[in-house]
Amino acid sequence: MDISLPRLLDDETRYNEAFNELAKYSKKFESFSSWTDKVYPELVIQKLRQDNESTLRVMDIGSGTGEIALGFVSKLMTKFPDVLSTIVEPNQKSLTIFKEKVTQRGLLSVEWDWQNKTWDQYYRDLKTVGNARNHFDLITSVHSIYHLGDTDTVIAQLLDCLVEGGVLILTLTAAYLTSWKFSDRFPMLPESIFSERSSSSVKQLLGKNEIQYEAKQMPLIIDIPDCFDPENEEGQLMLDFLMHVSQFRKTAPSDLVNAVLDGIGSPDFATKEDGKIIVNGTVDTIVIKKFSGNVQK
Ligand SMILES: C[S@@+](CC[C@H](N)C(=O)[O-])C[C@H]1O[C@@H](n2cnc3c(N)ncnc32)[C@H](O)[C@@H]1O
Repeated sequence: MDISLPRLLDDETRYNEAFNELAKYSKKFESFSSWTDKVYPELVIQKLRQDNESTLRVMDIGSGTGEIALGFVSKLMTKFPDVLSTIVEPNQKSLTIFKEKVTQRGLLSVEWDWQNKTWDQYYRDLKTVGNARNHFDLITSVHSIYHLGDTDTVIAQLLDCLVEGGVLILTLTAAYLTSWKFSDRFPMLPESIFSERSSSSVKQLLGKNEIQYEAKQMPLIIDIPDCFDPENEEGQLMLDFLMHVSQFRKTAPSDLVNAVLDGIGSPDFATKEDGKIIVNGTVDTIVIKKFSGNVQK
């Protein structure tokens, strides 16, 4: 089938609405908030440099409206009084919401460097500016690596931007969610959270390049019955996010919509219990510390 569907990423307003619905149905922000309190200090902060005399330079890529990145920065501030936080996010509307949250939460003592660009654009700019600004103590990408380009190249670029001893954090869905091979069955979908870019493919790449890492998993549970109700606008927004297509139910041919809904409602993808249709997934956080020898060959 040769069809072109409107990418959700190209519709900034709908992307934000759809992302908020996914976050709501999956309780993503609640899970991350507890993860940031309980796991982040040991998994991440303890691996950073121990002296806090100079500014800690951190970068978050694809931060969206900043809920998770703000949690990370607040935690870092408990140890590092001076933080310079670079935010790379191409969605202008998301950045505006992020900046409002910074003001509301009184995080103005942090120095913010707002980069309304794609990763590719920002990396190119960094390279032309020269070395001084290029090096970060910590780089985080939470559910954004799917969009950044060829994963092998992007990981090499990210490691290149770290100081020696710096830490790279990649959070993404584990292979579990991709078991239904959505991109094989529906190659006409532009991109989806069911894409084959999962933590297992990233781990394979790291293994191939002999890069050492540590990984920690947390559950991701999405309650999806509202996706099946065409009258339920919140459910339709969530479906748009899962497919990464704007107005999926209206813009895709009906046989494709039906096949996708059959897929996500099928037992090899979701379980049904007490009126709920639950997708049980896993989120993996991969932690890579840069030291000589632990970089892309
Ligand atoms: C699934 S959201 C993740 C948002 C946030 N990190 C979170 O997990 O709550 C993916 C984000 O990546 C951003 N993004 C898409 N393409 C990008 C690119 N080429 N470079 C940087 N960010 C990108 C999107 O605008 C979006 O905000």
